[in-house]
Amino acid sequence: MGIDNCPPDFYEPSFDDSDWRYITVPSVWQTEGTGSAPYYYASTFPRAISRQKSKIPCIDHNMQEIGLYRRAFTLPENFDGKEIFLHFGAAKSAIEVYINGSFVGYSQGSMTPHEFDITKYVKNGINEVAVKCYRYSDAQYIEDQDMWLLCGLYREVYIFAEPKTCLRDFFITTDLDKDYKDSDTKLEAKIINYEGEDKASKLSAYIEKDGKKQKLGSEEFTVAGKDSKTINLEAVIKNPLKWSAETPELYTLVIELKTDKTTTYKSIRFGFKKVEIVGEKILFNGRPLMIRGVNRHDFDPDHGWAVPKERYYQDLDIMKRCNINSIRTSHYPDDPFFYELCDEYGFYVMDECDMESHGVRRKGVPGSNPVWTNAVVDKMQRMVLRDRNHACVFMWSLGNEAGDGTNFAKMKEAALELDKTRQFHYEGDFDLTKSDVISRMYPLPDIMEKLGNREPITISLYDNVANQLAADSKPIPKEAYTKPVILCEYAHAMENSLGNFQEYMDDFEKYDNMCGGFIWDFVDQALRYKAPDGDHWLYGTDFEKSEPRRPFQLPNTTAMTGSNTYFCANGIIAADRKVHPSAYEVKKVYAEMKVIEKDLKKKEFTVKNKHLFTDLSEFDLKWTVTANGKEIESGIIDNLSVPPLSSKDITVPFSSDNLPNAECIITFSFLRKNKERYCEKGYEQSFDQIILKKMPEALPDNSKGKLQCVQIGTTATVQGENFTVKVTDGKIVSLRFDGKEYLKTPLKPNYFRALIDNDFSLTNFVPFLIPLHPYYTWRTATDTAQGTITAIDEGANGEIIIYVDWAVFSFSGVKSKYIIYPDGKIEVNHEGTPKAFTLLRFGTQMGLIPELNYVKWYGRGPQETYIDRKTGGKIAIHEMSVDDLEHHYMRPQENGNRVDVRYVEITDKDGNGLKFTAPYNTPLAFSAWHYTQNELEKATHIHELKHKDITTFNFDLTQLGVGGDMPGDAHVREPYILHPNKKYAYSFTIESIKK
Ligand code: GAL
Repeated sequence: MGIDNCPPDFYEPSFDDSDWRYITVPSVWQTEGTGSAPYYYASTFPRAISRQKSKIPCIDHNMQEIGLYRRAFTLPENFDGKEIFLHFGAAKSAIEVYINGSFVGYSQGSMTPHEFDITKYVKNGINEVAVKCYRYSDAQYIEDQDMWLLCGLYREVYIFAEPKTCLRDFFITTDLDKDYKDSDTKLEAKIINYEGEDKASKLSAYIEKDGKKQKLGSEEFTVAGKDSKTINLEAVIKNPLKWSAETPELYTLVIELKTDKTTTYKSIRFGFKKVEIVGEKILFNGRPLMIRGVNRHDFDPDHGWAVPKERYYQDLDIMKRCNINSIRTSHYPDDPFFYELCDEYGFYVMDECDMESHGVRRKGVPGSNPVWTNAVVDKMQRMVLRDRNHACVFMWSLGNEAGDGTNFAKMKEAALELDKTRQFHYEGDFDLTKSDVISRMYPLPDIMEKLGNREPITISLYDNVANQLAADSKPIPKEAYTKPVILCEYAHAMENSLGNFQEYMDDFEKYDNMCGGFIWDFVDQALRYKAPDGDHWLYGTDFEKSEPRRPFQLPNTTAMTGSNTYFCANGIIAADRKVHPSAYEVKKVYAEMKVIEKDLKKKEFTVKNKHLFTDLSEFDLKWTVTANGKEIESGIIDNLSVPPLSSKDITVPFSSDNLPNAECIITFSFLRKNKERYCEKGYEQSFDQIILKKMPEALPDNSKGKLQCVQIGTTATVQGENFTVKVTDGKIVSLRFDGKEYLKTPLKPNYFRALIDNDFSLTNFVPFLIPLHPYYTWRTATDTAQGTITAIDEGANGEIIIYVDWAVFSFSGVKSKYIIYPDGKIEVNHEGTPKAFTLLRFGTQMGLIPELNYVKWYGRGPQETYIDRKTGGKIAIHEMSVDDLEHHYMRPQENGNRVDVRYVEITDKDGNGLKFTAPYNTPLAFSAWHYTQNELEKATHIHELKHKDITTFNFDLTQLGVGGDMPGDAHVREPYILHPNKKYAYSFTIESIKK
């Protein structure tokens, strides 16, 4: 509702609200059918917010939306005589609160609590609370995160009562001695006396674990009337169990406050820990921390920011299973429940202030402008006060993409007043005076090298332009290299992405000033609409038209679109928490244990333990030797013991002398000895594979016999005993075995893929230019390729050889050679040289009959892999249906690929079908979908991509890597680039298989 339509007396108890609708609280309006639309902008604002400097911080109230809430509540009898508070866990963008018709207060600051003392407004029995919630307020200027713009009362709302003299707040800190053993443990407690007379009080506190109590101390004192007092208790706790992400040992703190009338207890859980920065390392309990992190938005596809509790369990379970140890709460404090669970599960949390002014950060918001000082300091204080007792919070972050200025120093100062035990992070700290770490986003390899080698980083013209748009690339002078380096965002996981992730980890381990980083990001922000035909996954583009505008008003984005389209899906898991294939890569690369070969002849291997506090005795180490994928031997090392941060050599008793004449691989699996809250006993936390013996050279096809070959016009037909192969214009148009036709559409070369988000590169930011993207050259090349049979030969054993020359757009020297052997085996050979620019793919595509729905392959899997995202895929024999091979990214795009494939069989339910075999020394890649590449390319949403009567099958030499070093810009690295002017060639065989 606009500002003018708002009934002025809506908060009066007498107001008639009988025609109002009910709404669930907590909730955001946009998922509750209120008519308010969600908007998605990555780095700018909706139209109600002006980016004109002279208009900041105005908002256009013509586009304002206001939500009015009313409800009655009854005060419990035992609230009588107490101080009563009304608590809103979070509210956006601003609220006015009324009780029984009286104005109580106004508040902004959307991701931290708003608490009001309502004692003087309430009465016994029934009361009325009314809230006016504004969608837009000037707070929006400093809450401009790349996420959906939602609003409402989306975290818990409740009232609570305190005795008139009460423990209003407290803070427990631990400080470990130089041996990280005993802890100086301090409690600071704030007692408030709300009454007029002085109050004699006694405060005592103890800590407890497993039934064992230890006193922190007690003190008697008097709190003057209408005043407060801070009491400090302190004790040395001898050798407590330490909290870490690996050992989340929690203690309970119990505080008792006694006055003449009341005794109250308050209790929390806390952990003993110490975080320090020593030189260029972050030390956690004395050990060098490696952040294996993710950025996480507190988001649910059905409820937006009103995240159901089960999501937190789901998210943290997935993270633990994927060896993630750290979370940055990008870009605001999450629901308090999240921190409770992180304490329990064990995660290092970088708690980030709800402060981003992306769209106006070059316009002095907040900069050093005093207009914003109180607002940003207040945001920081509220976060620190809310979360400082949590064991999991290891660092504070001043915000994200908000420019720089003295206001940041003020935020830090204010936070230090409240907590001196933690360090600070701020990536946008250009003069490196506020951040205790050198933080960087999305460094490309050259910058990684400079950071690692402590070389000065200067800002190029390109960086300057990028800085205006999105980045915050800051210069780093040589002398600034005194702090640890962390990547607060890296490995941009937008849909089919996360290429070369291993390379980042290699750099973290190579350079000793690097402490890891946080992947961007954990979970897709897609909104689910439950439609009659199933779930629709919606993103920015779907709501562009709903946003109000003044006549001729353009959107606030540089792209001139009304949203940042699909850029909201950057997760390693989908919005409904189905894991994306990239999650497996994360799991493998982030694993904290590894087996490498030492001396294969002696069967010696080295086991590395990268944990800080965990001995590998928590795992059984299973080893399995396979020959061409089939297990020939296995064993379990159940007495493995490798202390943290060390290595040990082991000898594995496999029968190396008798390895068969096949590809032999030893696979090591680290299996959990015990059931954990996030996994079953026996869960494979990581694996490593080492090739013991290479694939032997394949025997040539020596079948002999007589084949008939007839050429009529541009078609050659080869007829064998029980098969026919037909080639027209260079394509195989028919493949019949035992009278059954296997092809629905021809087998032909394919140089294209349905563009992944990273392929769009800069056109991601100017979507109307996407159709002009040069990569579409490869679609033209594929669609218009013209083949001509140039010769047909007969080989010595009777095999028929068909030679084809191709005219392909932007290619030269394109040739195919089909060899059809008397036993029905067909060898496909193809070569060519792309011109002009990077090639997308070099392979073969065909439409098979849809009954071919079952796939068995020997290669990497089971999940999707690409050349630059494959370390998480195990080389083994995998089986799956075509439906399961497909992967649904939020915006449909190239998917389902499997690399390093030695052979693949695709059959019907009875096991009849085709087998495709790669040369022994050149594994290939395959994918299969029940739709065509064209349909995949055209679909903008999953629900538009319907299964058709076809199995599209791709068997490729390779595809361009997926990249992902930069947001929306692949930056595929060597050796994953398909270069122009380089000749590519492959071959494979096809044969029929029968059950
Ligand atoms: C970063 C930003 C994130 C997100 C990401 C791109 O610059 O901090 O919030 O926008 O880029 O997906």
